Amino acid sequence: MILDGQRTRLVAAAIGARDRAYAPYSGYLVGAALLTDDGTIVIGCNVENASYGATICAERVALTRAVAEGRRGFVAMAVATADGGSPCGICRQVMVELGPQMVVFVSDTAGHHRTTTVQALLPDAFDGSALKSAERS
Ligand code: THU
Repeated sequence: MILDGQRTRLVAAAIGARDRAYAPYSGYLVGAALLTDDGTIVIGCNVENASYGATICAERVALTRAVAEGRRGFVAMAVATADGGSPCGICRQVMVELGPQMVVFVSDTAGHHRTTTVQALLPDAFDGSALKSAERS
């Protein structure tokens, strides 16, 4: 369960993280903020590249950064964009991998947000179980 104060702090952190975005190609600034079960917030922003496919979304920056810092137990993520845009498909897949139980707050820059979950964003996800049980021949 996420307390109102934590939700407000998380959304504000995601909005603030947009200031760090490196988005010279799209001009679309995205901030993400990840909440761990010990109350830590880890932020991410999108980092674009002249080779467009090398761009990394804010959500995946926050998640991979947190893992590299030795953090797990992700309970919530806030994502902030100018228009309150929803996380992309690749990010949803990474959220399923690392934080399948997360609550997700999708916010605009005024802090108006909707609340959803990783399960709702990516139902019937590929979870790798097929890999573990695959016959190797
Ligand atoms: N972007 C994100 O950071 N997260 C998303 O979930 C959607 C897209 C970024 C990638 C790119 O830098 C810009 O937004 C436009 O696609």
